[in-house]
Amino acid sequence: MMKVYLACDHGGVEYKNAVKSYLKQEGVIVEDLGVDQYESVDYPDYAEKVCSRVLDKEDAKGILICGTGIGMSIAANKIRGIRAALVSDCFSAKATREHNDTNVLCLGQRVIGEGLALMIVDVWLNTEFAGERHQTRIDKINRLEKNK
Ligand code: RB5
Repeated sequence: MMKVYLACDHGGVEYKNAVKSYLKQEGVIVEDLGVDQYESVDYPDYAEKVCSRVLDKEDAKGILICGTGIGMSIAANKIRGIRAALVSDCFSAKATREHNDTNVLCLGQRVIGEGLALMIVDVWLNTEFAGERHQTRIDKINRLEKNK
């Protein structure tokens, strides 16, 4: 069964909690890796916590939330094996699973409404990777990572 690791910085606490409640209500196994306070923290620390667990566990995905989602997505994409997408619309949520096989979703709490954020989470988690020509492109991304 799929497991979702969830974290945020101080700019994403409300949406992190909203996503957590939503996923629990949907019967998804979710682990909250913080934060719960509004004191300033550094988003790369939380990106690392989620991404290392996503890579360690088969059939796991991660959701990272900060003010814009940008810092989290930059940090997450530095980690080998992570394909993180910053998403603000449902079309991209679907496409990035089908085409990019993203294993981490980033959201910006200061950018989109909560209803849209939850809909994006739902679409992203319920869309399968389409494989075929898209796998060829993922293989090329993996080669880029190896050549770094
Ligand atoms: C924190 O103020 C803010 O910089 C952070 O949440 C995020 O938006 C960074 O990309």
